[in-house]
Amino acid sequence: MAARDVHSYSEPGRVRVRHVDLDLDVRFDRRILEGTATLVFERIDRAADSLVLDTRGLDIAATEAPVDGGNWRAVEFSLGAADPILGAPLRIALPADADRVRVRYATRPGASGLQWLSPPQTAGRKHPFLFSQSQAIHARSWIPIQDTPQVRLTYGATIRTPSELVAVMGAAGNPTSGRGGMYRFSMPQRIPAYLLAIAAGDLAFAPLGHRAGVYAEPALLDRAAHEFADTEKMMEAAERLYGPYRWDRYDVLVLPPSFPFGGMENPRLTFATPTVLAGDRSLVSLIAHELAHSWSGNLVTNATWSDFWLNEGFTTYIERRIDEEVYGPEFAAMEAVLGRQDLEEEIERLDDHDEILHIDLAGRDPDDGATRLPYEKGSLFLRSLEELFGRPRFDEFLRAYFDHFAFQSITTADFVAYLKEHLLSRDSAKAAAVPLETWIEKPGLPEEAPRPRSAALEEAQRIAADWTAAKVPASELPFARWKTQQRLQFLRQLPSPLPLPRMKELDAALGLTATGNNEVAFQWLLMSIRAGYAIADARLEDFLTSIGRRKYIKPLYEELSKTAAGRERALAIYGKARPGYHPIAVDTMDRILDWKG
Ligand code: BES
Ligand code: ZN
Repeated sequence: MAARDVHSYSEPGRVRVRHVDLDLDVRFDRRILEGTATLVFERIDRAADSLVLDTRGLDIAATEAPVDGGNWRAVEFSLGAADPILGAPLRIALPADADRVRVRYATRPGASGLQWLSPPQTAGRKHPFLFSQSQAIHARSWIPIQDTPQVRLTYGATIRTPSELVAVMGAAGNPTSGRGGMYRFSMPQRIPAYLLAIAAGDLAFAPLGHRAGVYAEPALLDRAAHEFADTEKMMEAAERLYGPYRWDRYDVLVLPPSFPFGGMENPRLTFATPTVLAGDRSLVSLIAHELAHSWSGNLVTNATWSDFWLNEGFTTYIERRIDEEVYGPEFAAMEAVLGRQDLEEEIERLDDHDEILHIDLAGRDPDDGATRLPYEKGSLFLRSLEELFGRPRFDEFLRAYFDHFAFQSITTADFVAYLKEHLLSRDSAKAAAVPLETWIEKPGLPEEAPRPRSAALEEAQRIAADWTAAKVPASELPFARWKTQQRLQFLRQLPSPLPLPRMKELDAALGLTATGNNEVAFQWLLMSIRAGYAIADARLEDFLTSIGRRKYIKPLYEELSKTAAGRERALAIYGKARPGYHPIAVDTMDRILDWKG
């Protein structure tokens, strides 16, 4: 399982960190974390006399090791040159008998893996908020660590916050009541660095069952608990399919709207965008997705970012299996159809080398590999195996796969070897029908890739055609009885750009500019930009300045930037919105908009 990780300076083949203890002050006054990380390691190479850690923008005050009988003494360290993508290697000299080192350090206010929010950027507007986002390689911006998914570690943490705030981590020990400014956590299951997670703010907790719950700012707690009420059912469905949930608790933390992702599968504590709080549970397949990572990703982990599809493709497949169990086959089918549509659009945009599941990311930021491709192509690949070998056989295979590789990090080659041995070799006639190499190493989609179908979406598509041909007036559209996914499909299937009078007609009948569903709002705002529909201008500006989810803001700014006037608007809005965006979103948008400040 030794694959070279081009995104880490650490040399886990020589010395491997097994455990880390964090002792950190959350300093909202200076927007830094400050304290120590104590790393317990194993010398794989007995002669190794240094430990190399990944860092990015950390201020290292000292490094120490216990010498002769446990007294901590300063040991030498050197910080290498900083690479714009990888950060800087921290090399620490190891005394011969030491099995641990302690790094005294502080983060900087611009740390790429942290966002520090001022009170007005929160729902309650009274308290500041901090949250981390470590995937792919941002853990190194808040912890000096071997930041490669090949290294798994347990951890403990003592976190101090202002006394009125609550700290939580992706670990055991999250408080369900009470505050006091001092929190202790421990994580007994071995995880890769990209799953290290922390947040602090004015948080309250609501249980969702005996082993699930939700953390949110008090103003959002009831809405969140209502939205995520099916969480236990999802856990039970996933366990029926893939074996026991191995992380004890599953809680969800609802973040402020600047969270740049939909969700992040931090173990025991999924981080989620508040933009899924639609009121009708229509967007909760996000929870199915992050929960699915408890098997694909967190239990069996990609060994390098070239193997990212092992995380996201498997997870997208499992997400839809959970959807099917909890919400029925039609719901899962709608999600699968929309997913394949997204994939086809993505393939039109991407260069060939970015359409390969086993992607080459050398010299690039691994976040560049996080397109829809590994999600949807990976999921279609697994679905093709399911269709060929039959559901019972394939379910059995996947379940055994998770048991076999539990708590390990594996490469694409490891998966392929396991697949051949445990599925393909048992039925050579069927195996011959699997274009394995084409799926994994070639761009585009194999001709035989599954084409999911959904009667509910076909109805929406038909009605979109009828309305376009003026066979049905907007006032008679069955929008009110449609599911969110049907509404999305209806909008996606309309001509683009839609003539202004038709935009007006739709808006008047369906109230689209005012919709509270963020997926629908996003689709409508894209259409509004394309159509030059000025009535939605204010809504667009409000959307872009209040939400920082990259999936929404990136396409909207890109669409605006297609005309000179639009680009001017984009820059004007971005100027206002930028201070509220997360560093990861700022990085993406600065590049796209060629922002010079
Ligand atoms: N692990 C990802 C988020 C991620 C990927 C963060 C790569 C950084 C780098 C998470 O599980 C995810 O896929 N989130 C999706 C939502 C999901 C429902 C498809 C997202 O944020 O859009
Ligand atoms: Zn995911």
